[in-house]
Amino acid sequence: MKETLRYLAGIAGPSGFGSNSTAEQVTEEDCSRSKPSPLTAIITGATSGIGAETARVLAKRGLRVVIPARDLKRAGEVKDRIHQENPQAEIILLKLDLNSFASIKKFCSEFLSLGLPLDILINNAGKYCINLEFSEDRYEMTFATNYLGHFLLTEILTEKMIETAKETGIEGRIINISSGVHSWARRERFKFNSMLNPKNYNGTEAYAQSKLAIILHTKELAKQLEARNARVTVNAVHPGVVNTGIASDLKGMISDSIYFIASKLLKSTAQGASTTCYVSLSSKVNGVNGKYFADCNESPCSVLANDESEAQKLWKQTQELMHSQLTLAKTTK
Ligand SMILES: NC(=O)c1ccc[n+]([C@@H]2O[C@H](COP(=O)([O-])OP(=O)(O)OC[C@H]3O[C@@H](n4cnc5c(N)ncnc54)[C@H](OP(=O)(O)O)[C@@H]3O)[C@@H](O)[C@H]2O)c1
Repeated sequence: MKETLRYLAGIAGPSGFGSNSTAEQVTEEDCSRSKPSPLTAIITGATSGIGAETARVLAKRGLRVVIPARDLKRAGEVKDRIHQENPQAEIILLKLDLNSFASIKKFCSEFLSLGLPLDILINNAGKYCINLEFSEDRYEMTFATNYLGHFLLTEILTEKMIETAKETGIEGRIINISSGVHSWARRERFKFNSMLNPKNYNGTEAYAQSKLAIILHTKELAKQLEARNARVTVNAVHPGVVNTGIASDLKGMISDSIYFIASKLLKSTAQGASTTCYVSLSSKVNGVNGKYFADCNESPCSVLANDESEAQKLWKQTQELMHSQLTLAKTTK
């Protein structure tokens, strides 16, 4: 109740920001993190919604922004809009489809061949499938896009981030976009093989499970980075309920009347991108690792999302899958 009132009134939390702070407001003081040479950020899903606003604001703060996209025309439109506002912005477009392990590997080798540093990785792209669909690698599409694809992307790019942080002395940050809906996932239904290939598909459940998997991944990766003394952190973010393409897809979860009431409480994209931008740039987040943020403040997540053994199990199963998949790809070449 107290949290709901805080949200509705936009009352600031300990960070000094709250539910109605915008991405521009939360990054005003911390643009120094992008000097003297520009930080480089990769933002997935920046062709629309929260990702496009995140790209605009980070570019405005002087960052070099890489936009990987499956539709380069849409990405080009975002780039043009950023250039209209900020002609100096450095925006790089590369092809990436998170539904395909081959595409992810190709994107990473193209990015790495540019010889750029990598300071920030924002795993923002997201999908909600009402009906059962499969990725190129034949895994359920929502889980494949939101979780598996970003897992592989992060796995390949983490070394580059550790190397960059070592060279620059500036903390690298990975930001994984989850959702408050993660708490709807049930322990008894959170089974790796059924999530890859569900028998009784439910779109809302698949979305919630993918968002829970993202938090568990965040927590396990945070521990591993810490154990390596890597100067790279990873945190998860709930952007709030934001008026974007995915929010209208999510209409399927609730009745029209509830959606009508909820739509009055939706955040704008400027507000929806604020937590991501805050966690990417704020000096107050220095050294903060493995946490969950909402409305620009650390926030509690579900009991299941805090379960360390569940996080370890999921990590192990995902790595085994990736290795078998990638070995298979090599032998069939
Ligand atoms: N909006 C909300 O209320 C809300 C609430 C909680 C969490 N979130 C999360 O916030 C993130 C951003 O969502 P949004 O609201 O901004 O939604 P959106 O406007 O629908 O944007 C989704 C983005 O993901 C990209 N994408 C989808 N599938 C992809 C794939 N296979 N490969 C590469 N990119 C792909 C889309 O690219 P295309 O142009 O190719 O389609 C688009 O750029 C998502 O992770 C979402 O789950 C949103």
